[in-house]
Amino acid sequence: MTSALFSPFRLAGLELANRIVVSPMCQYSADDGSATDWHMMHLGMLANSGAALVVVEATHVERSGRITHGCLSLYSDDNELALARVIAQCRRAGTARFGIQLAHSGRKGSAERPWEGGGALKAGADPWPTMAASAIPFGDNWHVPRVVTEEDMARVREAFVSSAKRALRIGFDAIELHMAHGYLMHGFMSPISNKRAGAFGGSLENRLRFPIEVARAVRAAVPKDIPLGARITGSDWREGGLTPDDAVAKALKGAGLDFICVSSGGVAADIRNPSEPGYNVPIAERVRREAGIATRTVGLIVKPEQAERIVADGKADMVSMARCFLDDPHWGWHAAKALGADVARPRQYLRAGPTLWAPAAAKA
Ligand SMILES: Cc1cc2nc3c(=O)[nH]c(=O)nc-3n(C[C@H](O)[C@H](O)[C@H](O)COP(=O)(O)O)c2cc1C
Repeated sequence: MTSALFSPFRLAGLELANRIVVSPMCQYSADDGSATDWHMMHLGMLANSGAALVVVEATHVERSGRITHGCLSLYSDDNELALARVIAQCRRAGTARFGIQLAHSGRKGSAERPWEGGGALKAGADPWPTMAASAIPFGDNWHVPRVVTEEDMARVREAFVSSAKRALRIGFDAIELHMAHGYLMHGFMSPISNKRAGAFGGSLENRLRFPIEVARAVRAAVPKDIPLGARITGSDWREGGLTPDDAVAKALKGAGLDFICVSSGGVAADIRNPSEPGYNVPIAERVRREAGIATRTVGLIVKPEQAERIVADGKADMVSMARCFLDDPHWGWHAAKALGADVARPRQYLRAGPTLWAPAAAKA
């Protein structure tokens, strides 16, 4: 059997061994934005998961653009040095390639870590002022953001470029812009959170203007052979919000991006995503068909056969998974076994895998 999930895929100058991507996952464990030994362990574990690409968690481009006090960032030389140490070791010891997601939290910043409650930081917990397209809080009891000015836009755009340059110096194989889940960029795109008048609000074209400016500026700094993409919210799952009819992916492709990851939801605190398996897949299929761009999808993809069908049926070029890699850090190995394929393993672990499952070993 030839597995589509385990077939190679080329993204710009990057050759991926298979279509499996570990989805970015915030760890809330950085020290003033700098990666710690937790990241060494977490990313080291995922480096040998069988996924061709591991995308490092939302990494913030300015200090006030973090979600929590523990969020990873690339706004300082210290941040760059700490992440370079982790990624260098992961590359030495692991089989995966590494991408990074660059982000700005917007009105969802100044928040508690999930295990502290996940709400807005309270007075006494060192909260900071947030900003967004419009002065509308994310939900009840959230900070009211100030309105982003054109000076803020210029600074944030340069911060994305500067962090992308730091990511390139670290040696990342791919860069992804976080334009989903209600953070600053998606906050501009969605009519639910963007009520601005003028050039950056109103029509879809205007709401996309700032995110597109950021994408173009980063593209100009990232060599063509390094894949640059974005994660988008394919649907706000709310009347009056973004829908798959809004050709966000097509516009981003026009800004020079190489791939789109289709996620959804996150624009307001009371919105719930659907709970059926692969709920973003139909949106990804449409993006792939209509925008003609390499497409990844995510969201309740758990089983090897489910992931295989998504790729084999041409619904997405790549699948990303988050929670099942935390549950089973060798998910890619086990999927390969289930689908009659194989993955690269570090030489220290070669005695596990196919030889372990061979009939002789099974009898022993
Ligand atoms: C612990 C955790 C942290 C996450 N952090 C991020 C993040 O940094 N950036 C992002 O785009 N999505 C983030 N997500 C969302 C996941 O990348 C993914 O889209 C979501 O969990 C759905 O995929 P799943 O059903 O495979 O878990 C996070 C999810 C989890 C569970």
